[in-house]
Amino acid sequence: MPATILIGAQWGDEGKGKLTDLLAKEMEVVVRYQGGHNAGHTVVVDSERFALQLLPSGVLYPHITPVIGNGVVVDPKVLIEEMDALEARGVDCSRLVISGSAHLIMPYHQELDALTERYLGKNRLGTTKRGIGPAYADKAARVGLRVQDLLDPKIFRQKLDVVLKEKNLILAKVYNRLGLSAADIAGAYLDQYAPRLAPQIGDSVGLVHEALARGAGVLLEGAQATFLDLDHGTYPFVTSSNPVAGGACTGAGIGPRHISRVIGIAKAYMTRVGAGPFPTEVAGEEGDALVARGHEWGTNTGRRRRTGWFDAVMVRHAVRLNSLDELVITKLDVLDTFEKLKVCVAYEAGGKRYEQLPWHQSVLYEAVPVYEELPGWRCETTRVQHEDDLPGPARKYLGFLAEQSGAPISYVGVGPERAQVVALNVR
Ligand code: IMP
Repeated sequence: MPATILIGAQWGDEGKGKLTDLLAKEMEVVVRYQGGHNAGHTVVVDSERFALQLLPSGVLYPHITPVIGNGVVVDPKVLIEEMDALEARGVDCSRLVISGSAHLIMPYHQELDALTERYLGKNRLGTTKRGIGPAYADKAARVGLRVQDLLDPKIFRQKLDVVLKEKNLILAKVYNRLGLSAADIAGAYLDQYAPRLAPQIGDSVGLVHEALARGAGVLLEGAQATFLDLDHGTYPFVTSSNPVAGGACTGAGIGPRHISRVIGIAKAYMTRVGAGPFPTEVAGEEGDALVARGHEWGTNTGRRRRTGWFDAVMVRHAVRLNSLDELVITKLDVLDTFEKLKVCVAYEAGGKRYEQLPWHQSVLYEAVPVYEELPGWRCETTRVQHEDDLPGPARKYLGFLAEQSGAPISYVGVGPERAQVVALNVR
């Protein structure tokens, strides 16, 4: 069985964890391929709620081998804390395989992430301050330390000495901060983290290829989402990795021929955390209602999410960028109380109509959404189990999203529980 990719089709927090749960029974391997502990995946298994940051959600299923791929940036302290917390709840993490080629998040990455944000002031990106950007920057600059370096203390210390000299100069001369101690960092990473993680570090690429060769189900689980992608998102208000489907190939070490299914997850409306353009953002009562009904506060950072109407121009672009075979719409029930719903079908800017996402981002800032208004259903959908039991206007709404986005909808989520997913055939 070839690999399936699961990605967010908007700005993140679409509810990817829920779909992982649904697909888990078909999978033997679940790979995280990019990002770090900036992600927050909530998965409900047997009515127990788990909030994961760094571990692939596959860890929650005893038959699955969870893999942290080479494209991920790993904070070993956070990873160990997450493993300890899960083990305390009876979840066995011993099957985890961490790619030796994944990069390490170091203490100076976190410090520089926070300092840069402060320095940028009102121009800040609104990062999660977890050191993600600085860690990927060092990877690209070829001064990063990798997970495999934890197993070779000599190399680890050599690399750390070189890179820390420069980081400490930046901390002192640019930010007027005290430098960090190489001995303290090496002590924590080599004496505490390395022995704990060593049994988990290995050949993730080999493992994935062996699984593919024997026909096992492999799920490539994206974190963040299409419009937070470093190349295709609303730069610079993006994360520093490639959450798009293409990123799954580089971040897990497989070629595109192995991919047979690409699933995009989108909320029935839009949200975004942090700064950046958001053409369909709604303020006032409607925005407050979406936040309250959708519990739109970050799982990870606790920040209030910005909310808006479903933007079919963006999701249409996500269908293209990721070769989406299908869409899964989540949180339909959040719209249960609305009398009227808006869907953005195009933008207008500078006297021009845009049906596809404008390539120049300045247009996005001045874009006025062209909305189609659809009637709400004004009844509870949380107990719906079959497509036929969805209220007529809800089916019409979903049909409109599929038609406008250009991909069929295979499932819709109507609540946080495992059972609150309805299989659909909406094209
Ligand atoms: P960073 O990934 O911490 O560098 O943050 C860059 C941008 O991505 C910020 O706007 C964050 O709010 C956003 N971001 C990062 N991870 C997530 C996520 O898992 N969900 C939603 N937004 C995220």
